[in-house]
Amino acid sequence: MELSDALRRRRMVRSFGPDRVEPALLDSLLDAARRAPSAGRTEATRFLVLDTPEAVAGYWDLTLAPARRVSFSWPGLLVAPVLVVVLVDPAAYVARYAEADKVATGLGAGLDAWSVPYWWVDAGAVVQNLLLGAVDAGLGACLFGLFAAEDAVLAAHGVPGGWRAVGTVALGHRAPDRAGRSAGRPRPPLGEVVHRGRWDQPPNG
Ligand SMILES: Cc1cc2nc3c(=O)[nH]c(=O)nc-3n(C[C@H](O)[C@H](O)[C@H](O)COP(=O)(O)O)c2cc1C
Repeated sequence: MELSDALRRRRMVRSFGPDRVEPALLDSLLDAARRAPSAGRTEATRFLVLDTPEAVAGYWDLTLAPARRVSFSWPGLLVAPVLVVVLVDPAAYVARYAEADKVATGLGAGLDAWSVPYWWVDAGAVVQNLLLGAVDAGLGACLFGLFAAEDAVLAAHGVPGGWRAVGTVALGHRAPDRAGRSAGRPRPPLGEVVHRGRWDQPPNG
């Protein structure tokens, strides 16, 4: 598939069939995802892969209490055979930017020195690679947050302290779906998104 097609076709899929994703295909998607750019080549993004029925069920037990589950808007999401929790280590960025070639940036001083926390940026690029790879492979995927369950998921899976769970990507074979609540919001036209030279310059003006 052409990249331009994958970019246009990609959308979050929240309903899946139970068929497994071939392990080799999953590995290839994760391998492509990790090739995203990272600031200073810090390379501090990791994947917690839950790809057995037991592991997936355990995730949902931690993140979606039975009382909420009965009225959950996306029951088809719970069928996804693979969940990839995307992890990032902010402290690794501080350590990387304290190295000799980066120390002049001042970003090695601590997390508060970062006006733009690049760990979130890098994790977003990894997630986008994964989402586009899924489209290319004919699979569905959805990124969603862990919210209040982040610490519980990290602890239950033995993730060392300091790592953050940016979000979870559900992967699997698409089932009939409906668009998410936010997806109907209009995408601003290109002319509103692009500011050439100055913010108040009319497009192509
Ligand atoms: C950082 C981020 C967090 C998101 N979190 C959720 C979420 O928790 N639950 C959800 O259903 N969708 C979530 N989404 C999906 C967005 O709602 C979706 O991308 C948006 O409505 C546009 O739809 P599309 O991706 O299908 O084009 C998230 C997307 C992003 C980029």
